[in-house]
Amino acid sequence: MTRFRLNRRDASFDGDPEMPLLWYLRDHAGLTGSKFGCGVGQCGACTVHVDGQAVRSCVFPMGGMEGREIVTIEGLGGDGLHPVQRAWIEEDVPQCGYCQAGQIMAAASLLQHTPSPSDADIASIGNLCRCGTYPRIRRAIKRAAAMAGDDRSET
Ligand code: FES
Ligand code: FES
Repeated sequence: MTRFRLNRRDASFDGDPEMPLLWYLRDHAGLTGSKFGCGVGQCGACTVHVDGQAVRSCVFPMGGMEGREIVTIEGLGGDGLHPVQRAWIEEDVPQCGYCQAGQIMAAASLLQHTPSPSDADIASIGNLCRCGTYPRIRRAIKRAAAMAGDDRSET
């Protein structure tokens, strides 16, 4: 039995330890916000947070989840919207939307570690978007960084 936290709740799994985290999230936990794109860790559509780091859940086996803290797009904002989600709405980022949960999770992780990211920092995320929303993603990440800065200066 593998025990872990999923979106701030206790969870467990006693199936195949080789099952990728993405399969567990979508097929067992009913959390379908994380998408299957390439299945080989290249596109980022499946990005979630594990212990605060953005990981590509299609290549992360359930056997490695013991004691970990997993957050998906469904749990990112807690009871409301995360600043990155607010910025995404304000910049009207998505086109088809398929890659966007992964983009948001990757952006939230970047901002946690790099509060004022440069264009190069943002480009280094490397999540793919077939619709080419990269300029709006860049603007939204900078908007979220500014919002977080405003929040910090108010406290
Ligand atoms: S589906 Fe996981 S990186 Fe593409
Ligand atoms: S919005 Fe369509 S793939 Fe990114």
